Amino acid sequence: MCGIVGYTGSAQAGPILLEGLKKLEYRGYDSAGIAVINNGEITLSKVTGRIDNLYEKTDGGRAAPGRAGIGHTRWATHGMPTDYNAHPHLSNDGRFAIVHNGIIENYALLREELIEKGYHFESETDTEVVVHLIEMYYNGDLKRAVIRTCGRLQGSYALGVACTDEPERLFAARESSPLIIGLGIGENFFASDVTALVSYTRNAIYMEDGEFAEITPDRVTVYDVTGSPVKKEVDRITWDIQAAEKGGYPHFMLKEIMEQPGAVKATLAPRIKDDEIVLDGQDFSAAELLDINKILITACGSAYYAGCAGRFAIEKLFRVPVSVELASELRYSDPIIDEHTLLIVISQSGETADTIAAMKECRSRGAKTLAIVNVVGSTVAKLADRTIYTWAGPEIAVATTKGYTTQLSVLYLFALYAARKTGRIEDGEYEHLLTTLKNLPKRLQESIDLSSRIPKLAKRYAHTRSIFFIGRNTDAAAALEGALKMKEISYIHAESYPAGELKHGTIALIEDHQPVIALCCNDSVMEKTMNNIIEVKARGADVLAVTFRKNDRILSLADEMIFVPKTDTVFAAIVEIIPLQLLAYYTAREKGCDIDKPKNLAKSVTVE
Ligand code: G6P
Repeated sequence: MCGIVGYTGSAQAGPILLEGLKKLEYRGYDSAGIAVINNGEITLSKVTGRIDNLYEKTDGGRAAPGRAGIGHTRWATHGMPTDYNAHPHLSNDGRFAIVHNGIIENYALLREELIEKGYHFESETDTEVVVHLIEMYYNGDLKRAVIRTCGRLQGSYALGVACTDEPERLFAARESSPLIIGLGIGENFFASDVTALVSYTRNAIYMEDGEFAEITPDRVTVYDVTGSPVKKEVDRITWDIQAAEKGGYPHFMLKEIMEQPGAVKATLAPRIKDDEIVLDGQDFSAAELLDINKILITACGSAYYAGCAGRFAIEKLFRVPVSVELASELRYSDPIIDEHTLLIVISQSGETADTIAAMKECRSRGAKTLAIVNVVGSTVAKLADRTIYTWAGPEIAVATTKGYTTQLSVLYLFALYAARKTGRIEDGEYEHLLTTLKNLPKRLQESIDLSSRIPKLAKRYAHTRSIFFIGRNTDAAAALEGALKMKEISYIHAESYPAGELKHGTIALIEDHQPVIALCCNDSVMEKTMNNIIEVKARGADVLAVTFRKNDRILSLADEMIFVPKTDTVFAAIVEIIPLQLLAYYTAREKGCDIDKPKNLAKSVTVE
């Protein structure tokens, strides 16, 4: 997904912009560029492909003289990933350069209008209209031109604007797309993501929708949509620089898999005090919880699958019906919602466009909202009535791991919390499940420790064309995420199927040596899943069973086994996902795939 950076100060801008873009690489992109202002001219450098190409082209940014500039990583939406579609874009008179994240929804009309007025377009992007509007509205006052331009734009944007007439002064504007100003001494920065800022400063201003900032080396002024100054708090970025780096692992994904016990502990532990669950100032009263007659969970990707797995715990413990809907579908589905509906929104980034739109739609229909989010101050967190943060820290690998498990742990926490508060759980059962929940970080570590055979197992999967993941109930939910991990990073076709549905179609595809991964960690459906293993074995499948230790009954059925520690069935999905993440990881590694940045995928999907 696109990323923007900007710098103005006493150092050469080029190398700083490139380093900032490098930090944004993890978001996914297909082209990149920088524009640096020097002596009334803009030096523009753009490349298709990796930022390393930009390093080469500009001698690490040193070939572009000048102390102020803007940079961009682009993930193609309007127009192919090419040099001419890459940002920054220049005005026809060459005086202005802009970078943009988001989508200008009314760009077609604006483009027509600008062409009629004689402006010439170099790219197919929606973005280019912005720079021509700025040129059109500029009469010596860049601030006024920015206000008038933003007033014409519909859609979402984080914009960075540079002008040769004012070589030290940059503008940055935000509407529905993240934008953070970094404050230095004698230098200032902006970026779409704190990871691009932390090497330089930890003092940050988080921009709100409708605001724009004027940035010089010594001063940052934030304005509202009309141009009146807005007083902003300076926040401290607490993320550790090391935490955003690989810490000795060959890939961020492996590092993040290994971090899961700690991340789940950091998420759960502060919320369990004296054997009661507390939701850091986001508590519900018993009356509020009793008033809820339906829970709707919405999210995209793995966050959606966390919802699918968490649903079982909420229904079992809180006894309220839960439906889990993909945000991209929910937003257009005319949902039946009222003030007795609790909408749970799950998002690692808090910036996923469909998730935000579904959330807005449901809120407008009266739903109360609870967000489960990793990025503090993100759009989802801000829109929600209540937010429970997952303390996973920065997640860099595109394929989420610790994001997913921390989301699931919060859903478990909420299920037990709501059951306790409403008296829908016996004391003994509550105590047992609370202890089990507290022990989940240990179980996750054991799951990692039990996975030593996975690199070897992965060798045989690397040469397969498709893999089926089967299971029932909580196992079926884990199968969804397991299959997604496999296809995302190894590019092997992986399909998850509730085991009881095999007979209704998928079993037709089972033939000799077809790999099937059978998840058997849920006691309540164990016998049933075992029967399904027998069925696929009878048709020649190679079965790898994932089950808890000492479950010897499966030994005689499956070709291979992976063991995980035993936990209560309610929480089984979180424990069994670990070997599935590792299997996907090592299979992709065996195939030589670009694990942290899989092709065509983005970390944060901020456009529809
Ligand atoms: C992208 C990421 C996934 C993530 C999904 C939802 O597809 O690659 O890992 O699950 O977006 O993102 P969110 O930030 O809303 O959890």
